[in-house]
Amino acid sequence: MSAHVQDEDFDVDDPTLTRFDLVKEGARRDGVEIVHYAPRFPVPGTRREKRIVRTIGLLFALAGLLGLAFVVAYIAWPWSYKAGFNIHKFYTPVLGVTMGLSLAFIGVGMIAWGKKLLPEEISVQERHDGGSAADERKLTGETMLNMVDELGVKRRPLLGLAALAGMAPLGLVLAAPLVGGMIKSPHTDAQGNSDAVLFHTGWDPNQNKDLHGGQISLALDDGTKIRPEDVSVGGQITVFPNLIDPNTKEFVGNSNDYADSPTLLIRLRDADAAAMRENLKHVTQNVGSPWGNFVAFSKICTHAGCPASLYEQQTNRLLCPCHQSQFNILDNARPIFGPATRHLPMLPINVDADGYFYAVSDYKEPVGPGFWER
Ligand code: FES
Repeated sequence: MSAHVQDEDFDVDDPTLTRFDLVKEGARRDGVEIVHYAPRFPVPGTRREKRIVRTIGLLFALAGLLGLAFVVAYIAWPWSYKAGFNIHKFYTPVLGVTMGLSLAFIGVGMIAWGKKLLPEEISVQERHDGGSAADERKLTGETMLNMVDELGVKRRPLLGLAALAGMAPLGLVLAAPLVGGMIKSPHTDAQGNSDAVLFHTGWDPNQNKDLHGGQISLALDDGTKIRPEDVSVGGQITVFPNLIDPNTKEFVGNSNDYADSPTLLIRLRDADAAAMRENLKHVTQNVGSPWGNFVAFSKICTHAGCPASLYEQQTNRLLCPCHQSQFNILDNARPIFGPATRHLPMLPINVDADGYFYAVSDYKEPVGPGFWER
């Protein structure tokens, strides 16, 4: 059934008709019956109305302030990882709280606007299909203008300004992560050096020479250096480059600046180690080198960069929990299941005169997922 009900007697150009008469007629022709319609404030400008307007304005203003706070925190809050309890730890919570509260205040303000200021209306609507005649388009246009009037922005300019002030920073909140990701070149390191950092990790002895004493030891996440006897047979341990900030004397090898460096040091059983060495004879790529029964692979999954660290010692498989890629540790960490298509890079390792593991060199190939210059 067509819902367009024409009324030949109704003249939309009749100057005696009010806008609301046109709205009602437009609704009627669309099969919508407005059965109840009453403004919340028949007498405009009452103290109660002004109080509600101020409250909603305050909500929007708070939303704007929190949106600005998000942008300021995004730019200025110290974000790099630092061990211990410090304000660096609050970077993500601060972003979440400011953005969440900003959105919440906008939402509450809009709901309050709808519930407390817009007219009460009950309508019964029927569906219709087909195109609209010219006069119906005019009726629709008037209906839209009527809605703008009902929003009361003209009569309550404070609300319009407050909504604008709240929404504009929210736009910045949405833009900040997109723009921010494009500001820093992936080829520039923390010190601003524009060497191709995508091809180097914290294990490169030529990088950050002031942070180590010539060779880079394997260390736990508190900076403790590792000896072979620290890893049980069939066990594994996550290690970081032993880099020390010369000014603060703090261990920085586990910081965001070296997020590409976490490495899994695995101690194979004798038979497994023999099988690995045999397999390595057939590997043609420029790979790293194990030491005895120990082998170290990058922990950054070559699929999408998650930490691949679920080691199953019975099968010698390393599983990445993100998308279930599996790597065969005995076969140069070759991917044997899941979406990863490239093996995990191997770190060349050795043991120094004091019995500590160190990296002979950086990885021989870039770690992590693919990128276009690889
Ligand atoms: Fe490891 Fe996807 S990131 S399987």
